[in-house]
Amino acid sequence: MTNYETIITETHEHVGLIRLNRPKAYNALNSTLLKELMDALEYFDHSDSIGVMVITGNEKVFAAGADIKQMTDASAVEMLHSEFIPAFDRIRKIKKPIIAAVSGWVLGGGNELAMSCDMIIASETAKFGQPEINLGIIPGAGGTQRLTKAVGKAIAMEMVLNNRTLSADEALHYGLINRVVPVERYLEEALDLASEVASRAPLAIQLGKESVNHAFESFLEDGLKDERRSFYFLFATEDQKEGMKAFNDKRKPLWKGK
Ligand code: CAA
Repeated sequence: MTNYETIITETHEHVGLIRLNRPKAYNALNSTLLKELMDALEYFDHSDSIGVMVITGNEKVFAAGADIKQMTDASAVEMLHSEFIPAFDRIRKIKKPIIAAVSGWVLGGGNELAMSCDMIIASETAKFGQPEINLGIIPGAGGTQRLTKAVGKAIAMEMVLNNRTLSADEALHYGLINRVVPVERYLEEALDLASEVASRAPLAIQLGKESVNHAFESFLEDGLKDERRSFYFLFATEDQKEGMKAFNDKRKPLWKGK
């Protein structure tokens, strides 16, 4: 397989494992990482010997969201033309099941990536959130749509509007994830589950995944378009510039509502 810069790939019998690997930036999703991740997923999706894929980070962080440094000075039009958000569309076309094995921070685009997978296994230290509001923006990679569907309107509103984070146990309680296991076991548990699913009838697995996803596809398509328009629009505001500059400068933002 290709030598990647921001991810590490491994095969465990019939399971393709992808480790996000930008530890110094808390696995922030920049365009290189997203492109490499999608390339690796598509490679495994086309490989005859692989039945299921697992995406993981490290114990401290799954991913802390989109790379803020890469977006700080971007205009709305630059965001509209960027490959960043469309990269998430590629994950929707993957036919084989994908399991996210998460630990530590699962934030912003990181939570959106986990929710784009088909199942989520979490370590007991996992913390889920959509902190975009702190930056003067909203989630742009499906967060407002998939989160609401998963946890319901009340909790999704608190997370999107007020940066409420969910512990692993809360995330399990609200139906965001499948299982919570001790931190030493979360990856093993995900690999075991992946290997069990990979041993089953491949065509039934593919159509089962497709059918479950159809349960909210029609609403998802419209919702994603709407979310994306609002996300891009916010890059035309002064508050987005201030929010992201403040994060980079490690200070509190001064909101103007402009
Ligand atoms: N983008 C770029 N760099 C990031 C990052 C991100 N999303 N998250 C963390 N980092 C970097 C920090 O800048 C820092 O780098 P330096 O050492 O060079 O300063 C390093 O990772 C460690 O971060 P902290 O010093 O902040 O570590 P901490 O332990 O004090 O806090 C944290 C950890 C709570 C995860 C905090 O880093 C944080 O709040 N990160 C941002 C989370 C966020 O806002 N995510 C949403 C991004 S926007 C988005 O995802 C849009 C979308 O929907 C697509």
